[in-house]
Amino acid sequence: MISTDTDECRLATKSKDFYLDVIEGLRETPKRLSSKYFYDKKGDSLFEAIMHSPDYYLTRCEMEIFIRQAEEIVCRIAGQNANFELIELGPGNCAKSIHLLHALTQVNAVFNYVPIDISENVINELRSFLPVHSPNLRFNGVVGDYFDALSVHSLSPGTRKVVMCLGGNIGNMTVAESNRFCAKLRSYLQPGDQCIIGFDLVKHPAIIQRAYDDRAGLTREFNLNLLTRINRELDADFRVDQFDHYCSYDPLTGAAKSYLVSLDDMVVSISGDLISFEKDECIWTEISQKYAKDQILQMATDNGFSHTAEFMDSKSWFMDAVWTAV
Ligand code: AVI
Repeated sequence: MISTDTDECRLATKSKDFYLDVIEGLRETPKRLSSKYFYDKKGDSLFEAIMHSPDYYLTRCEMEIFIRQAEEIVCRIAGQNANFELIELGPGNCAKSIHLLHALTQVNAVFNYVPIDISENVINELRSFLPVHSPNLRFNGVVGDYFDALSVHSLSPGTRKVVMCLGGNIGNMTVAESNRFCAKLRSYLQPGDQCIIGFDLVKHPAIIQRAYDDRAGLTREFNLNLLTRINRELDADFRVDQFDHYCSYDPLTGAAKSYLVSLDDMVVSISGDLISFEKDECIWTEISQKYAKDQILQMATDNGFSHTAEFMDSKSWFMDAVWTAV
């Protein structure tokens, strides 16, 4: 049988998905583009800069949790029989989880670290970096979609699992999507398996607003870069300087939403498809959902988990919740 699963084929499928998502989203009313497409090379480096920005607090808060409370987290996840699989969905450079890996090693926990990421780059970087940092770590990086990887890859059946989803990534889903995600995650777990999920908490609205409209204009550039990416990869002719970044945080729903605003009436061609924009029309590009503590507890019980432990930074702005599948 001839395999069609070549790199080129995967690439072609990826850009076809990108094209279809873009066209479909821009034909909707109101117009939409998915934030998952922010992360090309430029987007990755802008996001890195955002994470270091004084106005963007999420990364600092979660980092503080992992630096200061890794030992306590270990007590909640390592269990009596410490043999388990520590699976991380979207590990990035594992700057936070490395503290947990270190604390687990200190107590001689027997575990396999299984980072799963759609980007081969991310997994390759970890594959070369982690053995230097933690020579005895049992590493089994997987490239692929989270749930495909959870179901088909060599995750040892019968071994307890602890699944981490850090960085407030769950915030880039609506509340309904997050519930679906948690229910799906639960369906891959057995009672006693656990997950650690990072939630950005509700706080003074001005602090949240500032995080997504930072004074250095990094988030603005990050948002507008999506149009530059569409121009380059989908043969489009957006005049990027004719769009603006706008973010609004609604304290009543906890949703911070980012938009690209068209500054004029215009028609844009995307691979020959024409899309019209009216002056001041908005494209919704991202949601960053914030949660109250009782919503997090509710989400756990609604999706088959018990809320076992919670870890917060010193300002109580961010929470890493430990849930146990029941
Ligand atoms: C990746 N994610 C959790 C970030 C967030 O806070 O929603 C992405 C981001 N968007 C703008 N700034 C950062």
